[in-house]
Amino acid sequence: MEKKDLDWSNLGFSYRPTDYRFQANWKDGKWSEGELTTNPNIELSEAACVFHYAQCCFEGMKAYETVNHDIVTFRPDQNAHRMHNTALRLEMPPFPEEQFVKAVEEVVRANAAWVPPYGTGGSLYIRPVMIGSGPQIGVAPAHEFIFRIFAMPVGNYFKGGIKPLKLTVPDYDRAAPRGTGHIKAGLNYAMSLYPTMEAHRNGFAENVYLDPATHTFVEETGGTNILFVDKSNTVVIPKSSSILPSITRRSLVDVAKEMLGLKVEERPVRFDEIKDMAEMSLCGTAAVLAPVGMVHTEREDIYLPSGMEKMGTISKKLRDTLTGIQMGQIEGPKGWVHKVL
Ligand code: PLP
Ligand code: COI
Repeated sequence: MEKKDLDWSNLGFSYRPTDYRFQANWKDGKWSEGELTTNPNIELSEAACVFHYAQCCFEGMKAYETVNHDIVTFRPDQNAHRMHNTALRLEMPPFPEEQFVKAVEEVVRANAAWVPPYGTGGSLYIRPVMIGSGPQIGVAPAHEFIFRIFAMPVGNYFKGGIKPLKLTVPDYDRAAPRGTGHIKAGLNYAMSLYPTMEAHRNGFAENVYLDPATHTFVEETGGTNILFVDKSNTVVIPKSSSILPSITRRSLVDVAKEMLGLKVEERPVRFDEIKDMAEMSLCGTAAVLAPVGMVHTEREDIYLPSGMEKMGTISKKLRDTLTGIQMGQIEGPKGWVHKVL
């Protein structure tokens, strides 16, 4: 199969319509089988629930070309399951998990020419999305829904590749206690748009959100979980009921424990502990694992000892092992790498 003619090593992270997407519709209480389409547009009623009451959710996953030139996805069953949980919390009909994985495979196969070649550092970003498409004017869930999966080739999420990032602490919360921070609802991202742009305007790559109840503990950023390494090389993961259970983070925890023999602590992490940490990183499907060099607050700038030039040693080992598994260079736990083509 002939690949598209793209500058694969410099893709950045932006929308680019590819040849095929999958769509299924919920109507009269059931999901249609769904099919591939070439049309990137969706026509909707002006009263569609998604426009007014933000009834929408999504997932983010990637397909990779491995060292053997297979095309694989990474733990798609986990995204299927998270979207199931998200849908339930938003009064949306979950898309059957097995069908979700099959639809992802279909989209990847149909867009194989868009999967960045092995060694370019790129991947095919896959975006499953579900919206309340039926008209709804009283505050209530829609009666009709659209489930769609589209995909595009991407490179680094953060500008500047994997140079340590500068973050800031916003005056805003991203999630509420007992709210929707733990699911992948579009509304969480709507909440973060203003603080994200504020951070960018002030020269920071992302916000470190604190726990919304006490503003004492570290939660996550707008699009990633956070991971620390302390000075005794223990991987420390902030635990909270209002952060998204990142599949990347859970995989890194397994890599740290099972493959690198590191100690891992998952516990609430006070913001004032950052100054004692050795390394800090952001992790997620889009971001992979991106190092943090500095966190700005109103009172002080906290510099991590790993510095502003390179990734900390343990973070690099974690990143290299995870990407090695995804690219087929390192054998990972059973079921993580899911061959599609
Ligand atoms: N936290 C937030 C708010 C996110 O948007 C994401 C991205 O999906 C993550 C964490 C990382 O999750 P995952 O590793 O499953 O992509
Ligand atoms: C992902 O990592 O897949 C996400 O959905 C995060 C988003 C900020 C791009």
